[in-house]
This record gives sequence, C-alpha cells and structure tokens, in this order.
Amino acid sequence: MALIAHISDLHVGALAFQEKLLNKAINEINDLKPDVIIITGDITENGYYMEFERAAGYLEKIENPILVVPGNHDARHVGDQFFGELIKNRFNSLELEKKGLKIIGLDSSEPDLDYGKVGRAQQKYLELELENAQKDLHKIIALHHHIIPVPKTGRERNVLSDAGDILQSIIDGGANLVLSGHKHMPHVWIMGDTTFATAGTVSSLKLRGKEFASYNIININEDTIEIILRGGDGKQRTLAEYDNICR
Ligand SMILES: [Fe+2]
Ligand SMILES: [Fe+2]
Repeated sequence: MALIAHISDLHVGALAFQEKLLNKAINEINDLKPDVIIITGDITENGYYMEFERAAGYLEKIENPILVVPGNHDARHVGDQFFGELIKNRFNSLELEKKGLKIIGLDSSEPDLDYGKVGRAQQKYLELELENAQKDLHKIIALHHHIIPVPKTGRERNVLSDAGDILQSIIDGGANLVLSGHKHMPHVWIMGDTTFATAGTVSSLKLRGKEFASYNIININEDTIEIILRGGDGKQRTLAEYDNICR
C-alpha cells in the first residue's frame, strides 16, 4: 500500500559525519523507491550556510518526494533563516491521496537552543490539518524533538517544552504515526491508536552504546504496519509490527 523511509540526524559538517553512510542509505532508499522520504531534522551540525548547501546536495540525490523539518542543530547560527531557502519550508504538509497518506511537518526548533517547542501557532495549524484531513488517510506527523522520552538516552533534557499540549492535539486529532529524531536512538512507543517512532542518526558516529547508524522503513500494508530498522552495518531488525486501523 505505502512505503515510507524515515531518516534523521544527518549532521552534515560534523567531525562525526560519515559521508559513506549517507550515500549508502540514499542508494538503498532510491533502490526501494518509497512513496515518500521523511527527514526529521539535524540535517547540519551547526546551521552554517555552507553546511546547508552541502546537505542540500545530498538531498538532491533522493529521487522520490521528500518532506524535511529542521532540528535544533539546524537552528544554530541563524540557520533557521536559511532552512527554507536551501532545503524546504520549515513546516508544511504533504498529501499523497493515492497512497492514503497525509503528512504534517512541524518545526520544533528554537534558535540557538537545544530544547524543542512547537508553539501555539503551529499547534493550531496541526489541529486544523488533522481536522481537515480525510478520515481514511493515514495521518503522520513529523517533527525533530521527541514528545515521549526515549529509553537508553540518559537524563531527559530535550523533550518538547509543550509536549503535553502537543500530545493532546495529536491524540484528539486522531494522528496515526508520529516520527521524530534528535536522540540518535531508534525506538517505538505505541499509545492507543498512535505510534511514536524515533529514528537513529543515519550518518553520524554520535551514537549511544552499541547502537549503529541507521534509518527506518515503514511498510503500510493492508492489514499490518511494520517499522523496520536498517543499520549502516547491513543488519536490519523489526522495531514494531501492529494492526493497520486505517482501512
Ligand atoms: Fe542530532
Ligand atoms: Fe537534535
């Protein structure tokens, strides 16, 4: 039915950035031909214009439609002002009706700060987008910061400052899937009818424990949905498999 690639935390410009891993992931994703590629921020390390130019060069190699939202690293050094110029709008929606997908991208970054915030204006936008979405579409929200804390990531510091309010809008609006990055630790939480999937870093060595660089593939089938992690080391594992209620 629909195939989604979810990549995050490229960190182009960082010492820990691994070009080989990013090219490998892009080649694999192009071979898979997903219906959409969702990129949940930290495209760059410092938000420098030159890093954005370089990151945009990688993103141009992706052959299918993409939706990109900024991360905290992209909002450093006034990078948030150039995100729209070189990458895409900082928040926007994408509807792939034939594939049954409605994707809502949010900008949770705050200039020169690591914590995240969606804010009231975007919260209203989110609520309206969810309310106006066709009922049978799979409603996906993409934002950099996690809304629910992620295990094995140490002391919690960077959860959204308005996480409770955004979580309420997500649940009330009937969103099916929330995609995030930021912690460089893949994880899936399922709460009621909503799944929260965090992707690891696709191309940096900023890793925790034995975790390897990775990205996620989301396979929306007629009856089930699978979230599969693909590691840069060639290994893959299923992060979650659950019933598809959007039928
Ligand atoms: Fe990151
Ligand atoms: Fe981040």
